[in-house]
Amino acid sequence: MRLLALPIILAAALPAAAETAPVFNRDIAPIIYNNCASCHRPGEAAPFPLLSYADVRKKGPVIAAVTGSRYMPPWKADPGAWAFRDERRLTDAQIALIARWVKAGMPEGNPADAPPAPAFSSGWQLGEPDMIVEMPAAYHVPADGPDIYRNIAVPLGFAEDKWITAIDMKPSARAVVHHVLYFADPNGRAHQRPPQGAEPGFSGMTAGGATVALGGWAVGAQPHFYPDGLALKVPKGSDLVIQYHFHPTGKAEAEKSTVALYFAKKPPERLMFPLQLPPVYSLFSGLDIPPGAGDYVIRDSFTLPVPVQAAGVGAHAH
Ligand code: HEC
Repeated sequence: MRLLALPIILAAALPAAAETAPVFNRDIAPIIYNNCASCHRPGEAAPFPLLSYADVRKKGPVIAAVTGSRYMPPWKADPGAWAFRDERRLTDAQIALIARWVKAGMPEGNPADAPPAPAFSSGWQLGEPDMIVEMPAAYHVPADGPDIYRNIAVPLGFAEDKWITAIDMKPSARAVVHHVLYFADPNGRAHQRPPQGAEPGFSGMTAGGATVALGGWAVGAQPHFYPDGLALKVPKGSDLVIQYHFHPTGKAEAEKSTVALYFAKKPPERLMFPLQLPPVYSLFSGLDIPPGAGDYVIRDSFTLPVPVQAAGVGAHAH
């Protein structure tokens, strides 16, 4: 991704003489710790930490630029007629405050006002999972070559149907994991497929016929519980099938992920249903992007037969 060279937009009026300049501890730290630190910390996707005054000061001017251009925090959805839950977007006032702070020379302020440094339990963002599934063996992604689609199946051992309200995952080699999709195979036999070469799992994009889609993960994804008691069913006896899309990075890596499952206390009262537009990843909708096209649009629509509530929207592009 490239950073657009947009000018820093400064607050229109200069602060009146009596008004004090923004300071880190009181004004800026809460913005950074609440909106940036979840990714900008060791072990997460962003390339440097933003966990202290020193960290933020070092990057001050570029922080003003990327918040001013809304390149950070990453959030692709336009502000629309519907608000998203947990929208990752700074307010105009927060952006202006950061710009003023940088212009004022990035003062630290009174140590007594400093909020505690953001603490992240080494564990999971949603708290203690109900079940942790470890991949049985690492998949070795070579330094180069084509992208790889690989499915790895693990028996879950459920003696009864379970309802999943959230899934989270920790990759061990984040850089090579383009994304994963989670499935359940109600037949529970995906893990018995004969080996294909020395690496665990089997190739292909159909997940070995696993029929129950359970969502997925990509870098920057933040786990959420489904709202309003909604949940996805995993039939008893199922295997969990994780379909990896690996993208070699120039460095050989071994990926062995850990997956956290969160269960609903009871079955949901309403059904959740995925709807893909255009269907099948646009395979049969004339998707054909001309080389160099910068603004390609493909449209589809579907008239819902009953009133519904939307629980989420996902987009996927390469
Ligand atoms: C969801 C994860 C995520 C969040 C939240 C996030 N960042 Fe980032 N940030 C990244 C990643 C990944 C990169 C490196 C990729 C890139 O530069 O495009 C990055 C890069 C940057 C850069 C370097 C840009 C450049 O071109 O050199 C700055 C500065 C930055 N982030 C500041 C922030 C600030 C300030 C916030 C909060 C207001 C924030 N980020 C929130 C993931 C995140």
